[in-house]
Amino acid sequence: MDKKGPVKGKDMNDLTVMEDAAVAITNGNVVWIGSVEKAMNIQAEQTIDAEGKLVTPGLVEPHTHLVFGGSREKEMALKQQGVDYLDILKQGGGILATVNATKKANYEELLDKTLFHLDRMAMHGITTVEAKSGYGLDRDTELKQLKVAKEANVKHPLDVISTFLGAHAIPPEYREDPESFLDVMSDMFDEIKENNLAEFVDIFTETGVFTVEQSRRYLQKAKEKGFGVKLHADEIDQLGGTELAVEVGAISGDHLAVASDEGIEQLAASNTIGVILPGTSFYLGKDIYAKARQMIDSGAAIAISTDFNPGSSVTENLQFIMSIAALRLKLSPAEIWYAVTVNAAHAISRGHEAGSIATGRKADIVIWDAPNYMYIPYHYGVNHAKTVIKNGEVLYE
Ligand code: NIG
Ligand code: FE
Repeated sequence: MDKKGPVKGKDMNDLTVMEDAAVAITNGNVVWIGSVEKAMNIQAEQTIDAEGKLVTPGLVEPHTHLVFGGSREKEMALKQQGVDYLDILKQGGGILATVNATKKANYEELLDKTLFHLDRMAMHGITTVEAKSGYGLDRDTELKQLKVAKEANVKHPLDVISTFLGAHAIPPEYREDPESFLDVMSDMFDEIKENNLAEFVDIFTETGVFTVEQSRRYLQKAKEKGFGVKLHADEIDQLGGTELAVEVGAISGDHLAVASDEGIEQLAASNTIGVILPGTSFYLGKDIYAKARQMIDSGAAIAISTDFNPGSSVTENLQFIMSIAALRLKLSPAEIWYAVTVNAAHAISRGHEAGSIATGRKADIVIWDAPNYMYIPYHYGVNHAKTVIKNGEVLYE
């Protein structure tokens, strides 16, 4: 599976599957791929027998809100009563409740919690993770989150790629003046860049949060400072966020649950990857799922992610999301596998090192308790990962 760029459209059905294959690893990288028979001639220090089970690249998570304080299980009752996600936010709950908990948590507490969630992701076969800030909404707390993500990348074997999502919600003190709030956040760009605290800048373009015009200006500034840009776009209301993602040359447009047909056409003709997060539709009890089938049929490149966060998708198990992608998005197993490996890696600029088993790439590999690749989305809700290898080292078995 040595793919140079994202896999688009109908090519997402063309999965490379090798039978009786073997991989040789040196210094954390894949150095050889061939048949088991030929591998018998290699003098290896250590051998792992996959026993004929499914072996794939480690899963790549291109969209998570990994670093946060507290939890919001009390919102479950509100959800059951039919209180809308954006209404909970309007009343100071939702994202803003997590903002308060994140402000209260000290650095060590946040780091421990982050490492805990990373462990859980690793156990489920994830080897690379994008992590957004966005539960600070003030300079100090946003920096605290970004520093935690940076230290987690060093302390934990998984690779953590950081995104600045200071524009995640309007804090109450800026309710009447979101523009000034965006200025406070964009004033942090230089400091974030100089300290290598984030590679990407993201914004929540949504009713009651930031408008398309505000998002455009903010992302242009981020681009001028050398950041790659991403958007939470067309998640709940159709505002034209998909079109904006294409217009600003975003590396990914994320959610796209209510993208317009025009937006989908533009996405297909662009280099922007659609990061689809069906776990949020499921978890928020919505009947509307992203038209991922139409996106792929139109020629777009799609990735899939958990959107792991404390409010709209509370799971570290990407395998479960793969099942939702099969059942609700009607994607084929091959499309789903590309969406959680090759394309997910490209959605966070890691296509050169993650998302595929190929010579010269990192040896991030999972052996699954599964007879074939179709089995994982089919047998849902459990963890199939048997052995997780990160940088050539066994992390879990
Ligand atoms: O991707 N949409 C905005 N942000 C997150 C939810 C965050 C939260 O509810 O805490 C999302 O769905
Ligand atoms: Fe998100």
